[in-house]
Amino acid sequence: MAPKNPIICAIDTPSTEWAHTLVQSVAPHVGMIKLGLEFFVSQGGDAVRTIRDYDVDIFLDLKFHDIPNTVSGAVSAATELGVAMLTVHAAGGSDMLKAAVEAAHNTANKLSIQPPMILAVTMLTSIDQALAKEIGIERKLEDQVIQLAGLAVKSGADGCVCSAHELQMLRKNYSSDALKLVVPGIRPETSKFAAKDDQKRIMTPQRALEYGADYIVIGRPITKNRNPAQAAKSIKESLAP
Ligand code: C5P
Repeated sequence: MAPKNPIICAIDTPSTEWAHTLVQSVAPHVGMIKLGLEFFVSQGGDAVRTIRDYDVDIFLDLKFHDIPNTVSGAVSAATELGVAMLTVHAAGGSDMLKAAVEAAHNTANKLSIQPPMILAVTMLTSIDQALAKEIGIERKLEDQVIQLAGLAVKSGADGCVCSAHELQMLRKNYSSDALKLVVPGIRPETSKFAAKDDQKRIMTPQRALEYGADYIVIGRPITKNRNPAQAAKSIKESLAP
């Protein structure tokens, strides 16, 4: 089922105060708030709880990649924080992915809460063919992405984080019920805040949804706007059917 509001706002800041200010202004217009390594390493788990207290769903994007036992513990701890979605690296292998899924379900059952969605990162979008070769991947990146997405599905993960240009390829192989697709690198076309920043391959929110994204991650076009609430609101309105 498609989410009511597919916009995930990425709040990338080391400051709790600024994160609170942003969340309060954008929360009414987005479906979820993404907190990543910068926020988590600076402020810790308690700060995640204080953001969750605004009654927003949280995507904790820490991209776990370790031995199954360690990932299992980390996923349990993240589940206890009450997050709605979290990331692990598909390259950690099926044992690690299954351990993550199992930990999320077991901990959620104990707490009588919904388990977080486990999303597998296939290939980082910062890795191109030349960098992939450095780490021993000689074949086409697309083939690598398809294989890792398949591994994620087989291991029980709920979805993948992928770049916009992989959407159509993944959707040819997997329905939204089998694999949720969460896509960063989104830039609204009509906005005067359409700067690419450091994103190389970008797509508009409308096109990404048309190509099969379930969720779109949007950070700076909202958070760096002089009026973040208005920026989030107008993106949401632009998606209305
Ligand atoms: O500001 P912007 O819209 O570019 O933010 C995108 C967010 O998505 C950031 O938090 C970034 O870390 C994250 N991300 C990404 N590309 C990936 C995975 C995550 O841009 N492949």
